[in-house]
Amino acid sequence: MRYRAPRGTRDILPEDSWKWQKVERAFAETAERFRYKEIRLPVFEQTELFARGIGDATDIVRKEMYTFEDRKGRSLTLRPEGTAGVVRSYIEHSLGGGARVTKLRYFCPMFRYERPQAGRYRQFWQWGLEAIGSGSPGVDAEIIDFCVSLFEQLGIKGCVARVNSAGCKACTPSYNEALREHLRPLLDRFCDDCHVRFEKNPRRMFDCKNENCLALLEDAPAILDSLCDGCREHFDSVVRYLERMSVSFEVDSSLARGLDYYTRTVFEVHYEGLGAQSALCGGGRYDDLIEELGGSPTPACGVSAGVERLIQACDTESGGADVAPGPDVYVVALGDDAALAAAALAATLRSTYSVELDHQRRSVKAQMREAGKLGVGLAVILGEDELRRGVAAVKNMETGNQVETALADIPEVVGRLLER
Ligand code: HAM
Repeated sequence: MRYRAPRGTRDILPEDSWKWQKVERAFAETAERFRYKEIRLPVFEQTELFARGIGDATDIVRKEMYTFEDRKGRSLTLRPEGTAGVVRSYIEHSLGGGARVTKLRYFCPMFRYERPQAGRYRQFWQWGLEAIGSGSPGVDAEIIDFCVSLFEQLGIKGCVARVNSAGCKACTPSYNEALREHLRPLLDRFCDDCHVRFEKNPRRMFDCKNENCLALLEDAPAILDSLCDGCREHFDSVVRYLERMSVSFEVDSSLARGLDYYTRTVFEVHYEGLGAQSALCGGGRYDDLIEELGGSPTPACGVSAGVERLIQACDTESGGADVAPGPDVYVVALGDDAALAAAALAATLRSTYSVELDHQRRSVKAQMREAGKLGVGLAVILGEDELRRGVAAVKNMETGNQVETALADIPEVVGRLLER
């Protein structure tokens, strides 16, 4: 029996894990600058939380959740997304208070039983932000700016933020009716799932993955033409903020999100280089969700991004030229005494630098070859003869320059050459 990772899951191997660390570090640093604090939540929650929060008519709840009963017969579900759990925790621990906006971030795996393909997995990672406690359009713009800035910082060029409105309880019923009226004569040509969506929530039809259905929706009425005064004013204000903040975006009146909790602003940032699964992130405002899940009425806005897709976009941009950072120093040693001296030197240098060492007693040539392969900055070469004289050669691997240095001075010389 040969075991394999379950379909739709992936091992993140050492040759790739540095890319994940890079994205996680950049995300955490940017989130700190925007003042979002980290929250870590359980991997599973009560099924009911997702059914209520995400919506019964969504694909996620209808067919993509990993749901199981525990030994006491309670229904639990591996989180398919982060917002419902964050809101549950916000209410449970009364994280809000006063006029404060509670700004939370997360970086963790999610689980959806989807058909695996490039950019779509059954276990995937998301980073996310949730800003709870303000209805200001400035929050929406800040979150969109966060995404675009972070993607640029990661070297992903040419991303486009698409912005739309999902309306609110006041304006969506009349829009849904207008949509049903437009679609009723075409209904026979839609897939079975869309028939269910038509009854439960016709806007979900925009979320269908079937190309035929999407083509039939092309002339459907746009929600932006049906907004109530409050939603219109909010949308116009978000646009003004984005323009003033020089965030590049486009209005996309056909943008529909796959989750039911959205009100007012919805957005996605796409990177066309990814093909069919081009959404790097998606989010929006969910002003009714906190009350829906048992809290007091509290406006909120958030976003999540798919980490696999971000890494794929980084790879596409760099043409695969990005390589894992090599160690700062490789200590090359020949002979028993030199091996001991190399271990002592490495122990000292490792308080500041990343240091690689040969533990297989290979030849100097083989050690130098490995140092070159790893892309190391400096090699410190300890031979028997040098050791007898209390010196070692410090070689700049980029320029090839080599200086003989007293053993006691090596940390200082290494520091100077590495400029730290
Ligand atoms: P979402 O659009 O379902 O939103 O997911 C956000 C991002 O996660 C997508 O844009 C995509 O990059 C990535 N993603 C989704 N499904 C997969 C998959 N099967 N494989 C790989 N990547 C995937 C949410 O999850 C909301 N919670 C976002 C949000 C936060 N709204 C408000 N706050």
